[in-house]
Amino acid sequence: MSEPIIAASSRSPEDGAPTPIHCLYEDELAAFIEARPSFVKGFIGLEEFKAKAGQVLVLPTPQGAVDRVLLGLGARDKVEPMLFRALPTRLPAGDYRLATVPDDLDPAQIALAFALGAYRFDRYRSKDRAEPRRLVADEDLDLEGVRAVAHACALARDMVNTPANDMGPLQIETIAREIAERFGATLDVVTGDDLLEANYPAIHAVGRAAVPARAPRMLELTWGDPSHPRVALVGKGVVFDTGGLDIKPSSGMRLMKKDMGGAAHVLALGRMVMAAGLPVALSVLVPVVENAIAGDAMRPGDVLATRAGLTVEVGNTDAEGRLILADALARATELKPVLTIDLATLTGAARVALGPQVIPFYTPDDDLALEIEEGARVASDPVWRMPLWDGYREAVESDIADLKNDPDAWAQAGSMTAALFLQRFAPTTGSWAHFDIFAWNPKARPGFASGGEAQVIRGLYGMLKSRFPKATA
Ligand code: BES
Ligand code: MN
Ligand code: ZN
Repeated sequence: MSEPIIAASSRSPEDGAPTPIHCLYEDELAAFIEARPSFVKGFIGLEEFKAKAGQVLVLPTPQGAVDRVLLGLGARDKVEPMLFRALPTRLPAGDYRLATVPDDLDPAQIALAFALGAYRFDRYRSKDRAEPRRLVADEDLDLEGVRAVAHACALARDMVNTPANDMGPLQIETIAREIAERFGATLDVVTGDDLLEANYPAIHAVGRAAVPARAPRMLELTWGDPSHPRVALVGKGVVFDTGGLDIKPSSGMRLMKKDMGGAAHVLALGRMVMAAGLPVALSVLVPVVENAIAGDAMRPGDVLATRAGLTVEVGNTDAEGRLILADALARATELKPVLTIDLATLTGAARVALGPQVIPFYTPDDDLALEIEEGARVASDPVWRMPLWDGYREAVESDIADLKNDPDAWAQAGSMTAALFLQRFAPTTGSWAHFDIFAWNPKARPGFASGGEAQVIRGLYGMLKSRFPKATA
């Protein structure tokens, strides 16, 4: 991946001067046009550039070369930095700089937006790889901090975009190991039948039908000073979800390479936390399985043991995510975290409720909910709090076991009943929040390539930074 944001010092003299980008509010356009030569005035009119939010216009020199770029900011009261995501894909290849940083916007957020908007997944393209568009950042910008977040988001997107044949359990383990080595964390891995010995029975039951090379595993990354408050991040890592014996129809299975989105997201968020050196003791817990079909696949009606000691009747083998998360959340409970956050591509019902862009989250902790909402707002990383409605709890009660994984149809709220199921296993000592993510853009829009998307982790990172500030020396 080429770096989309660079320091002025990493340019060579042959690069030439970076092209200036003028950011214009709608109410600044008239004055800007007035000061331009007449052919440019005509060009702006002809191209119908109105400085609407996200509108981009490349202005030519009289010789037809790129002179400067205009970016519309729209109305002053509505501007937000993620609008800059729309820039890179609309620019010719080359280096750019901001002619001025608009009032009210943080240059670091602008640079981050540019980097996120420049993301493309071209691992499998043998030709037509795009030349880079780069933003040359000001000297005083915290380039390393911006890069760390951009890199983590690109990692999550790459992992989600990479098909299951190249993103199996071993590849996820390898990525976790690379991250651990880079930041001095330890990685513990329990694989295959050892999961039974180590008391992860539900993870084993869900993943045991995969071929041996793609055996289920539990990854536990541990980092930081153990005397700091412990934060646990838990991510669903289903490398492919066929539905199991309750097999999905082809339309429902088509995107299920992304069912490890939760794992990708918590590894990315953990990487941000470690790169920033936040004063926490971090545990990243990732159960990784393939929900496959074979002779020893779990069956509808099977009753599973779980790490927490609760028994679960498998009403539907396609509700596998909550089964592996049950064991991972039970593990988190043992670590006595002050805060546990789980991320999972858990239900189709979450999309029926809120669609692909707005992510529902669940927590019994009102203060935590406010912190999450604030972090999300500042980062333009949309979330929506949903209730853990008591009246639907009985929908996951089984006739023969403690719980079942397929909620009664009468309760209807599939994302919520999944959250209520998880709550039975979540730590109760500290706070807990669950995010039912999508990890995907079904349709490209300016600055958002279609395919894998990093959701909620920029907002959560901001929340964690506020909650666990670094001591200023
Ligand atoms: N991975 C799916 C959920 C999913 C589906 C996420 C489509 C994003 C897009 C999950 O394992 C699943 O199959 N959930 C079932 C649960 C049901 C069987 C209780 C669902 O949502 O239909
Ligand atoms: Mn499923
Ligand atoms: Zn799934």
